Amino acid sequence: MSSVTTACDRPLVLVGFMGAGKTTVGRLLAARLRTSFVDADDAICAQAAMDVPAIFAAEGETGFRERERVVIAGLLVDGPRVIALGGGALREPTMTLLAQGATVVWLDVDADTAWSRVSTDADHRPLARDERRFRALHAERAATYAAAADRYVDATAAPEAVAAAILGSPVVRPGASRDLRAFVGDRNAVTVVDEAVAHLVDQVGDVVLVHGGEEAKSVAGVERLWRALADARLERRDVVVAIGGGTITDVAGFAAASFRRGISWIAVPTTIVGQVDAAIGGKTGINVAAKNDVGAFHLPEAVVCDPDLLVTLPARERAAGLAEAVKTALLSGWSGLEAAEPLELVRRTSAYKVRVVTEDPTERGIRAFLNLGHTIGHGVEAAAGYGELLHGEAVAVGLVAALWLSERVRGLDPSVAVETEALLVRLGLPVRAPGVDVDQVLALIESDKKRVAGRTRFVLLDAVGAPVHGIEVDPALVRAAVERVA
Ligand SMILES: NC(=O)c1ccc[n+]([C@@H]2O[C@H](COP(=O)([O-])OP(=O)(O)OC[C@H]3O[C@@H](n4cnc5c(N)ncnc54)[C@H](O)[C@@H]3O)[C@@H](O)[C@H]2O)c1
Ligand SMILES: [Zn+2]
Repeated sequence: MSSVTTACDRPLVLVGFMGAGKTTVGRLLAARLRTSFVDADDAICAQAAMDVPAIFAAEGETGFRERERVVIAGLLVDGPRVIALGGGALREPTMTLLAQGATVVWLDVDADTAWSRVSTDADHRPLARDERRFRALHAERAATYAAAADRYVDATAAPEAVAAAILGSPVVRPGASRDLRAFVGDRNAVTVVDEAVAHLVDQVGDVVLVHGGEEAKSVAGVERLWRALADARLERRDVVVAIGGGTITDVAGFAAASFRRGISWIAVPTTIVGQVDAAIGGKTGINVAAKNDVGAFHLPEAVVCDPDLLVTLPARERAAGLAEAVKTALLSGWSGLEAAEPLELVRRTSAYKVRVVTEDPTERGIRAFLNLGHTIGHGVEAAAGYGELLHGEAVAVGLVAALWLSERVRGLDPSVAVETEALLVRLGLPVRAPGVDVDQVLALIESDKKRVAGRTRFVLLDAVGAPVHGIEVDPALVRAAVERVA
């Protein structure tokens, strides 16, 4: 086997608030990785031969923090691959040590869930006795976790699911794309990069410049990449680095999936669509007779999302990406989208997709949720003529139609559609596709590949955060929904 050491080999250090499940998840994660696990608080107590309250009583918080600093520094040098840190451990100089030598994973849990998990255990958790203080501390610590985290997962799910999501989670950190060699290690690499971003990013190994856009996802496009990988003599142990929007990660991921029957690849998405959607979940492919009709499931070994790369994105592309984030917010129930910085937006939105695809990698069940707004959206996109509406713009229109159907078929509160339309407009997205041919949209929906057993099935909402899939809808209602947005 090869002796590569990469940023992916650094210890995974789990941080997060009380009740996030760091210890339980840490054990499960270590078991999955066949490695060992240490809870830093346990290591501190073992070394001091006292429990935490006893250390606090004897040496004060200062004494405890000093012990904590020394123990963590030791664990980072030659400790286990998975380490859980106490909720207050993130302070200097530990922060700097973590930035240099660890992958910090933030297990995020909302204050309500955290309180319900720990308030029954107040005897052992002195900070979990006063609910007001607990909530204030939760808000305060979130900023610290956000600043330190390389990866983010939603820790409200069951521990097994959280452990699985950690492994599929992207690195999301400003500046993360500046040192891609750290992810590649000593392997040979070919970097496939969109011309539009070539000047912004670190490139490793041989470089292939590609003009980003749907044309890149062609047989000719993938053949060019195969030949470049062959020219660079990439072997099974080597790696393809794909830097660009969804078209680049789709085609380069597919080249990696098929070259020498599958070599590793690293995705560095540079659009919002890429960071929140296309680079997550391992679907790769090209367009031959139809969009995405040839491809493979091939998970990248790492997804590196650098929000700094989004600054040059044209406003229209940005808005189109936000349509997918609005879709995700409707599915997950996240209400902070509009106020969020790109970092938080990418973390939250990608985490939802990671959670869904780790639970259902091959789209047999809940992965279908991600198609909210896409059944009519795809029809509208194609009927308008590809290139007329960006995919995300068509999805915005499709979401409006899906919410209209949800009201009629599932009793969704009408205020959701009103608020979502207003939000889409504020984000610069269309909510109607005037002049689009309704019959053509309906015909396209009919032929959509996502039909099951000859019937079109929809993803709809019972409420925000409560999607349902596989719903058959009366064709007359489908027509009415398309008429509504045409
Ligand atoms: N594999 C999946 O699961 C999945 C999911 C969603 C979408 N997709 C695919 O993704 C593609 C759409 O992705 P996209 O919207 O990123 O399109 P894209 O790759 O065409 O990028 C959009 C445009 O932005 C440019 N660009 C990229 N990054 C930039 C930056 N940082 N600054 C300035 N310009 C930049 C590109 O050159 C291009 O012109 C579609 O082909 C779709 O099928 C795949
Ligand atoms: Zn989409």
